[in-house]
Amino acid sequence: MFIISIEIPYKEDHLQYNFSMFKVNLVLNLNDSVPSHLIHENIIWTHEKMSQNSLYWNGKQLSFRPLNEKALPIFFDFPSKLSYHASRQYNLKKEIFAKAIGINQYNSIKILDGSLGTGKDAMLLLSFGARVRGIERNPIVYLLLKDAYHLALKGREKHFLKENFSLELSASHNVKLSQDDDQSVFYFDPMFKKMRNKSKSKKEMEIFKYLVGIDDDYQDVLTWAMEQKFSRVVLKRSIHDDKYLKPTASYTGNTVRYDMYSL
Ligand SMILES: C[S@@+](CC[C@H](N)C(=O)[O-])C[C@H]1O[C@@H](n2cnc3c(N)ncnc32)[C@H](O)[C@@H]1O
Repeated sequence: MFIISIEIPYKEDHLQYNFSMFKVNLVLNLNDSVPSHLIHENIIWTHEKMSQNSLYWNGKQLSFRPLNEKALPIFFDFPSKLSYHASRQYNLKKEIFAKAIGINQYNSIKILDGSLGTGKDAMLLLSFGARVRGIERNPIVYLLLKDAYHLALKGREKHFLKENFSLELSASHNVKLSQDDDQSVFYFDPMFKKMRNKSKSKKEMEIFKYLVGIDDDYQDVLTWAMEQKFSRVVLKRSIHDDKYLKPTASYTGNTVRYDMYSL
């Protein structure tokens, strides 16, 4: 086994985030080197062991395990999410997420997902027929997403994903917008204070929360988003959370609520 480390530079102006806690080791097999798809200009690789937390590269896939070596590793799997959604045959008129975003079978919507996270919501939006530009600011989460994307491009979904999905390491309120983004929907799902779901994915969510923390600057992101040329902003919140400003409409499910702001 061979360990190198990732140092996250303090580019707070770019990522608007303090990454001091995000040093992480990359554990590789002795003969492997850092896979080229994981090289990024804002991520520095060094040869000094720097953290208790480790990303593992097994030659095929990247995963993350926190301090405790016994914890299950987390990684993201886009093709399995896409095929699950394909099997569901959603009725877009009934899906509150699709209604909040404004997707119906007659339009093709472009979405700026400003909080990509595990990519689950992005995969659902793709299955609804949207095109998604995904933004993630946490470098470790970004590396897991990038690896999942890289792996998915080797499979049947290659063309579909290449045409409809992209991902970037950035703070969402720092991305460069072009005319192509005009009239997109800005979708934002910051980390909740309370655990959203105590069921089967609790462990994964706990690790994820450990990795990301609380996104308590979400109001800055919304202020920025409302000043752009988006057609609407959709904020995902827990049903227990207070509303931010006055949404144009709210779509409430069992545990989450989508607040929609028409611009
Ligand atoms: C609750 S998770 C999002 C879950 C996601 N919707 C999914 O389907 O997995 C929040 C994620 O958004 C990221 N995030 C929060 N604020 C951000 C911002 N301003 N710019 C970019 N990423 C952000 C966090 O790092 C975290 O990975």
